[in-house]
Amino acid sequence: MESSAVFIGPFIHSERFERVTVVDDGIVIVKNGKVVLAEALRGRDAASLCSSLGVVAPAVVLRPGQLLLPGFVDAHLHAPQFPNAGLGYDKTLLDWLRTYTFPLEGRYSDAEFAAKVYDAVVRRCLSAGTTLACYFATIHTESSLQLARCAVRAGQRALIGKVNMNINSDTAYNESTQSSFDDTHSFVDGVQQLQSSLVQAVVTPRFALSCDMDLMKKLADLARSRNLHVQTHISENMGEIEAVRATYPQCANYAEVYDRAGLLTNKTILAHGVHLLEEELRLLAERGTAVAHCPASNTCLRSGLCDVRRLLEAGITVALGTDVSGGPTPCILDAIRATLDTSIHVSFSKKNYEPLNYQEVFYLATLGGAKALAMDDVVGNFQVGKEFDALLVSAPDPDLHFESLDSLQLLQKFLYCGSERNIKEVYVQGRPVKQAF
Ligand code: GUN
Ligand code: FE
Repeated sequence: MESSAVFIGPFIHSERFERVTVVDDGIVIVKNGKVVLAEALRGRDAASLCSSLGVVAPAVVLRPGQLLLPGFVDAHLHAPQFPNAGLGYDKTLLDWLRTYTFPLEGRYSDAEFAAKVYDAVVRRCLSAGTTLACYFATIHTESSLQLARCAVRAGQRALIGKVNMNINSDTAYNESTQSSFDDTHSFVDGVQQLQSSLVQAVVTPRFALSCDMDLMKKLADLARSRNLHVQTHISENMGEIEAVRATYPQCANYAEVYDRAGLLTNKTILAHGVHLLEEELRLLAERGTAVAHCPASNTCLRSGLCDVRRLLEAGITVALGTDVSGGPTPCILDAIRATLDTSIHVSFSKKNYEPLNYQEVFYLATLGGAKALAMDDVVGNFQVGKEFDALLVSAPDPDLHFESLDSLQLLQKFLYCGSERNIKEVYVQGRPVKQAF
């Protein structure tokens, strides 16, 4: 378990939403997977600092153009949908689900197929710098457990949900209320039996059009009694919202459906939230429920422009999600850029509206994601005591840096122009985990 490491060079992380913290002359010391020191070196001797902390490890000295950053958090994606990434964007949400998504997800009744896909998914996400992923799997218990095993084996931190669906699927892909509930119990037990500090089970009713109130209430009880996270979708698309209104006429709005079921907790993360009403924002803020912003998906499926600043100003914690395969790539760098684009597009139709800037969006991709998943006591930045989930990045196009760039400029180059090629190493709990895929 001993994993110690020492990094000497510039690091950047978020301690607050408004701006990042830059430490140019930095040293980060990791002991047993945890940060024990992260500050400016200020002329001190690195070796004696390490020995005073009982750490013996060769120092990684960053080269010019390199930065140490916290790992990315992908707060919403669908592991089984990776084979469909980039396909099927000729339809909007409900038709897309019926035509492309449910038939593919149905294939995960075959656990061998699942093991093959999920192994590639986890390696792909780690290579893209996602050190913490919050995954939807499918309705199948054994396949969903395969995803948890793949994450543990590859060393990725992950929240994983076996999906619940007992209504409205006109394909073979559905479950009875009883089997949905019983299988969720087995799945939660199965994840706990892995005895890994990296993975946790998440209660995952697909959305209000896939689960009836009876099942959602039972799942909410389970989440409460076992202190589990909850994840689902909300207010992604107008047709979906209309259908929810027709299905639950006794509820004033979409958020109230989940609230009546007892699903809105401070460990709940709701994907999308594009079209939420003011009263829904107030309810989510009151419950401490977070939103995963999935801008690439919202564009590909033509769901709408989500005004993230409005959510933040209502007091809601916001994370970023790739929503593969609603979105085409599992790269949080792409989600960061899509968030910046979307925010600028929102600003075009508003007076005195300041679009999100790159430092604010970097926060959403790191500490904001950790907060949204109620894991900011464990990860999200390099605060002493947290686990060391990090990226060692090299800014792109060094040949074109005619002037030497400062650390904030290197961060901008990485966020706006970078790709996975610029992520040289990925660490989870202090262990290097970047893999070929
Ligand atoms: N709403 C319910 N299921 C899904 C899904 O798989 N993807 C997206 N984007 N929205 C959903
Ligand atoms: Fe989704």
